[in-house]
Amino acid sequence: MTDKTLIELNGDGTQLILEVGELAEILHWGKKVETCNASSRIAVKRPVPYGRLDDDIPMSLSPELGRGLFSSPAVEGHRDGLDWAPVFSINKVVRQENALTMVSVDAQAGLELVTELELDRYDVVKVRHCLKNNKAGVYQVNRLANTLMLPERAKELMTFYGRWVHEFQTVRQPLLQGGFQQENRRGRTSHEHYPAMIAGTPHFGEMSGEVWGFHFAWSGNHRMRIDVKADGRRYAQAEVIYLPGEISLAEGESITTPWLYASYSHDGLNGMSQQFHDHVRHHILPQEFTAKPRPIHLNTWEGIYFDHDPDYIKSMATQAAEMGVERFIIDDGWFKGRDGDRAALGDWYLDERKYPQGLEPIVDHVNALGMEFGLWFEPEMINKDSDLYRRHPEWLLAVDGYQQPTGRNQYVIDLQNQQAFDYLFERLDHFLSKYNIAYIKWDMNREVVQPGHLGRAAGHAQVVRYYQLVDKVRQKHPQVEIESCAAGGGRIDFEVLKRTHRFWASDNNDALERQSIQRGMSYFFPPEVMGSHIGASHCHSTRRRHGIEFRGLTALFGHMGIELDPVKETQEEKQGFERYIELHKALRPLLHSGKSWRLETDDDAHQITAVIARDQSQAVVQIAQLAMPTNSLSGYLRVPGLDPKACYRVMVLDKPNLFDDIVNYQPLWMECGCEITGEWCEQVGLSMPILDAESAVLIKFERVT
Ligand code: GLA
Repeated sequence: MTDKTLIELNGDGTQLILEVGELAEILHWGKKVETCNASSRIAVKRPVPYGRLDDDIPMSLSPELGRGLFSSPAVEGHRDGLDWAPVFSINKVVRQENALTMVSVDAQAGLELVTELELDRYDVVKVRHCLKNNKAGVYQVNRLANTLMLPERAKELMTFYGRWVHEFQTVRQPLLQGGFQQENRRGRTSHEHYPAMIAGTPHFGEMSGEVWGFHFAWSGNHRMRIDVKADGRRYAQAEVIYLPGEISLAEGESITTPWLYASYSHDGLNGMSQQFHDHVRHHILPQEFTAKPRPIHLNTWEGIYFDHDPDYIKSMATQAAEMGVERFIIDDGWFKGRDGDRAALGDWYLDERKYPQGLEPIVDHVNALGMEFGLWFEPEMINKDSDLYRRHPEWLLAVDGYQQPTGRNQYVIDLQNQQAFDYLFERLDHFLSKYNIAYIKWDMNREVVQPGHLGRAAGHAQVVRYYQLVDKVRQKHPQVEIESCAAGGGRIDFEVLKRTHRFWASDNNDALERQSIQRGMSYFFPPEVMGSHIGASHCHSTRRRHGIEFRGLTALFGHMGIELDPVKETQEEKQGFERYIELHKALRPLLHSGKSWRLETDDDAHQITAVIARDQSQAVVQIAQLAMPTNSLSGYLRVPGLDPKACYRVMVLDKPNLFDDIVNYQPLWMECGCEITGEWCEQVGLSMPILDAESAVLIKFERVT
């Protein structure tokens, strides 16, 4: 015990206490404890039951088979069948404020493991390993996993699932013996297995309970688990799934894992999300973009699809500008031969049949209207029906001799092929240098099957090369903002966000569906990185119809845009777009900087979201009625997070058109306003309005004293 030290890492409200000796073990991860002393270690020393190994085996940050820890090891690999169960000992610890670097070695196996662990002031932990081969011979790495321990009282889980047009769905389940494991083998972050999990004390909720949230910042195959050991101890683990033979380290070579991000909150899910949001705002997002108000988009996709006519597009831009749009984006369909989704991916040359005068007249027109111009690309993809494929069939990410299925009629380009990588960079660079492009939508519309480079597995390397391609583009064109899209929300994670600006959350613009998608996304991401567009009243992905109010208010709580053809819209609809654009602009500083809350409701038929200013001077609250109210009255709206002593004026900013037709009268405060304290708002609240299914109301709170 004497050669072990206790190391505390502190966030604003939470703490990690580690015992570091030969290995590093987490003794406490939770609320700050000010009074940890030498006896604290004695207090938590575990007993050793019969029927097990004769010593207590600590659950370290890198579980090892060789120490007798029967958990999933952090390192699995071998050197031609040898050195397969390494046991590392820490021989150097460097502490820098709240960051710890621990160097461990196994001299016999010739391996070094560097573990970095940090807790920032926003209470977000990040951890990763770097494994280095220090001995002659190739070390074949099968697994390298990041591990964090959880206390035994974490007994429930919230995990995510989804699919195209149905991203970020959540499911609750007990955390039982056997634990929970998720694997993503789709080659991109994926709609299906979003790399995040939340564990908590029984019945943890939005406002209460202890929760430990985990997000693995990787845009490819991953395995995440929250495991319950046979002795009741539990841990979270996240790793890249390396394909067979893919990671071979020659002497002197190393491999570093992606970061596993995690955050503890004793204030339920809202507390956890607010911590992640702060972390994203200060440490993940490229800082050069965070001060700039996020421009309102008009994206052409659902308006015209592949049907591009420059004069018509100009008229769309004119109308967009009149409505208050600030950035106009030409989506898919602008490049050579791209008349549908069967051909042309890879041929990143302007389609001169469609654009005989070039792109300049449109860019100039858009800029003259005071808007930024944006363009869609899908750089990593190729159609067999393309000049590029005809020239370079060998550029496919595939294994010779096998026929792989297409996805959206396309294949993936092997980014480890230097010529292919250079070609894609040159093409992007060409457009970004030639035209005044402020923004690109970087899409990725298929999953990766059998990723092969020169016959060898290349799933990991493909993701790394994708990051490198984005980084190279950003380096040359630092002023260009990038949206990450993958058939909607298929590539949404912290590692992408370090080099991009915004995510396309879903191809589903149905406001009702968007309510649950956006809520699911909000657990780890702040609203400003979530692209949310008002689509046409007749939703293209669900065929549902919604009025402009519900669509407008739903899109308002993200990075807002419009996705339709404004030329074809009625005057009434256009007035609606204008109205919500104006409202968004007025509220944007608050929505994109405040604290977001998912409020608990008295009736599951509605969903309430609030954003409260950092200085508690104002707040906006959106009540979305998802289904028919369960009862004839809907209970109360309680809003936490305001200054309890301050008095707030409550006013309705927006409500459905037919609002008053469905009741004798709505709550009195909606008619004549009221002024109540922050304490009243939190403890008692306001009577809820009666709403039709699939409608919403927007309320503002403004501090008066
Ligand atoms: C994907 C995107 C859409 C659109 C199309 C274009 O599906 O998610 O928003 O850009 O590709 O082909």
